[in-house]
Amino acid sequence: MTHTITWYGHATFGIEIGEYHLLIDPWFTGNPVTPITADEINPTHILVTHGHGDHIEDAAPIAQRAGAQVISNVEICRWLHGQGVETVHGLNHGGAYTFDFGRAKYTIAHHSSGLPDGSYGGQPGGFILYLPGDTIYIAGDTALFMDMQLYGDEDIDLAILPIGDNYTMGPGDAFKALGFLRPRAVIPCHYNTFPRVSVDVNTWENRIRAQTMVEPIIMKPGDAVTRGA
Ligand code: NI
Ligand code: MN
Repeated sequence: MTHTITWYGHATFGIEIGEYHLLIDPWFTGNPVTPITADEINPTHILVTHGHGDHIEDAAPIAQRAGAQVISNVEICRWLHGQGVETVHGLNHGGAYTFDFGRAKYTIAHHSSGLPDGSYGGQPGGFILYLPGDTIYIAGDTALFMDMQLYGDEDIDLAILPIGDNYTMGPGDAFKALGFLRPRAVIPCHYNTFPRVSVDVNTWENRIRAQTMVEPIIMKPGDAVTRGA
């Protein structure tokens, strides 16, 4: 079964796979580059990498309206449950679970995770999604770290990496991450949302094409790609 990945700008992605519609790090209301509003999306599952507003702002209202299950770390799940989200599933680092849409593992990230109201948001993370014909590593907000080599052992088809610098890896470290992760393709995110994360993505793309076997997939907010077997 194939699936379609849509980038909504910054770190917000949708993945439609059969009857399931995953929404990653929902940020629409304050997102200056997203082409849609939070009302226009009806996910079955919402995956949240960490507690920062640019990843969680719209999670509770969308989950409540759509009846979506939220998957995140245990502290964020507890906080969202307190915000009125009915169905949550907490994971912690290194833990995977087989959900109805497929298997997901919560990975480590080097970042922070405070929630918008100052609550403790646990430790930040990312996800590996084991979809048919497409193992996807969503790094979340993170610095470069050596243990990405371990995720590279999982036969990653697609890496979704932040490249915007300042808050996360910049283009140079994200390039180095490709050597650790050894993915077949990469989609950059968390850049060109606002001036502080400005990146010349074409230079980055050209460097990958010239020096690696990885296929860079450069999207514009609203763009979609279909993948999988
Ligand atoms: Ni963050
Ligand atoms: Mn962020």
